[in-house]
Amino acid sequence: GIHGTNVSGSGDSEDQRYAAGENEQTLTTRQGHPIRDNQNSRTVGNRGPATLENYQLIEKLSHFDRERIPERVVHARGTGAHGYFETYGKLGDEPVEKYTRAKVFSGAGKQTPVFVRFSTVTHGKDSPETMRDPRGFAVKFYTEDGNWDLVGNNLKIFFIRDAIKFPDLIHAFKPDPVTNRQDTERIFDFISHTPEAMHMITFLFSPWGIPANYRQMQGSGVNTYKWVNKDGDAFLVKYHWEPKQGIKNLTQKQAEEIQAKNISHATQDLYEAIESGNYPEWELCIQIMEDGEHPELDFDPLDDTKIWPEDQFPFLPVGKMVLDKNPSNVFAETEQVAFGTGVLVDGLDFSDDKMLQGRTFSYSDTQRHRVGTNYLQLPINAPKKHVATNQRDGQMAYHVDAAPGQNPHVNYEPSSLGGLQEAHDHPKPHQPYVEGNVKKEKIDRTNDFKQAGERYRLLEDWERDELIQNLVDGLKCCHHTVQTKMIELLTQCDFDYGNRVANGIGLLMHDDGSLEIEMGAEMTPTYGKLPKEGG
Ligand code: HEM
Repeated sequence: GIHGTNVSGSGDSEDQRYAAGENEQTLTTRQGHPIRDNQNSRTVGNRGPATLENYQLIEKLSHFDRERIPERVVHARGTGAHGYFETYGKLGDEPVEKYTRAKVFSGAGKQTPVFVRFSTVTHGKDSPETMRDPRGFAVKFYTEDGNWDLVGNNLKIFFIRDAIKFPDLIHAFKPDPVTNRQDTERIFDFISHTPEAMHMITFLFSPWGIPANYRQMQGSGVNTYKWVNKDGDAFLVKYHWEPKQGIKNLTQKQAEEIQAKNISHATQDLYEAIESGNYPEWELCIQIMEDGEHPELDFDPLDDTKIWPEDQFPFLPVGKMVLDKNPSNVFAETEQVAFGTGVLVDGLDFSDDKMLQGRTFSYSDTQRHRVGTNYLQLPINAPKKHVATNQRDGQMAYHVDAAPGQNPHVNYEPSSLGGLQEAHDHPKPHQPYVEGNVKKEKIDRTNDFKQAGERYRLLEDWERDELIQNLVDGLKCCHHTVQTKMIELLTQCDFDYGNRVANGIGLLMHDDGSLEIEMGAEMTPTYGKLPKEGG
């Protein structure tokens, strides 16, 4: 609720915390000075001028001047909620412990508190929640072994498979640096050079690119991680959140109708559902395979532009998540929360996925900039367990992470004088063996079009119609070179796919009305009938 702590009716005269005439509701400065007049600045006479020693006014204005912190460079627009994760204790018919020793999954019915933040990716902190955009689905598990962050999206795949391309991808999707508008020509210019993005584009321009709200939306870890059991054996895993509320997506037109009236419909939907006790739930499902390169597959299991086919790698539920409490302060919780793919606990591990490794650097790096060096001391980010480090100081150091009884003189390790010591248990490490030439090269099994084509064919008719229309609307204002390249790529996914988009933008229409696409140089002169639209 909006109410603070209750005023205690009894006199607090003996409590040293309150000066004469004060009680716990008394407004003070941050120095503890009671504020006797919060309506009038201190001025010469009642008409001014103001004076420089006007400490209260200057403190109030200067703190206000600093209320904003940098917004997230991506996923700035979001909303959060608290809840818990509850284990099933099984993976399929087997005990989950066979595959991971992570305590967050062990046993049945065990609850771990979580904080979740849902988001859109591209636009700023107050942008409409109806945008065609991936949705972020980030979960912080406050486990008994420390924090685990599962930083996912709604869609199960991504545009690119190498972190070195991420800033370019984001620049293409963000507003133009000159016009300050998102521009589909810039998006398709980049995407037409990025064949591995076709699978993602097929989802994004279909209704799957505009989830109706956050409750009726899936989540996915997207990148491949590892599970490690007590023997140190590793398995490759993918994580999926399946909403018990079902899945609902919007057409472009439905989204526009909502956006005309409400730019915060998804935040409102989640907040109101939780306030009314209608707690949303997701089941966490795992796909798992033996560690290794899997040459028998026509894709690389570390390639985040691919799904693992469900018939070969079934979704195995391992637990459920319930969101049952709204944040009491958006800034302190939803805004300052910091998720990262590096935040794993024993029994969970990284894979060699190049994207995942790049991400793992990026999150904590940006958070030191966005929130500050000591961002992990904030209550929303701190683990709900014992923390004791020899890290000291830095901007906004709020306390020393010391252990009870720790010699305060010893902020180093090792020491015989009462400092902190290494943990005693030694779980068997997972030690993958890696060899190879250090080089810059893409993976072998790129297979950029097959799954995109399959997805195109699997969509329901209305979804496919939407996809084509949305691509046509986006591409019709693009330079003909960009159109040509995009249609070439879409045609490689599925002939009908490229053909319909080409038709939609008025290209290669034969006299008899039939459509045909000829690949290569001959098609180029046919293009460019439509003038480039300025915006
Ligand atoms: C947020 C980088 C790919 C999901 C962020 C942030 C950065 C970033 C810098 C802002 C974090 C903050 O300010 O706290 C990257 C890089 C990527 C990448 C470099 C590729 C190399 C992905 C992928 C996913 C994803 C593939 C989905 C699995 C998210 C989510 C957030 C986020 C959900 C918002 C977290 C929150 O709500 O605070 N990313 N990202 N990112 N990213 Fe990524």
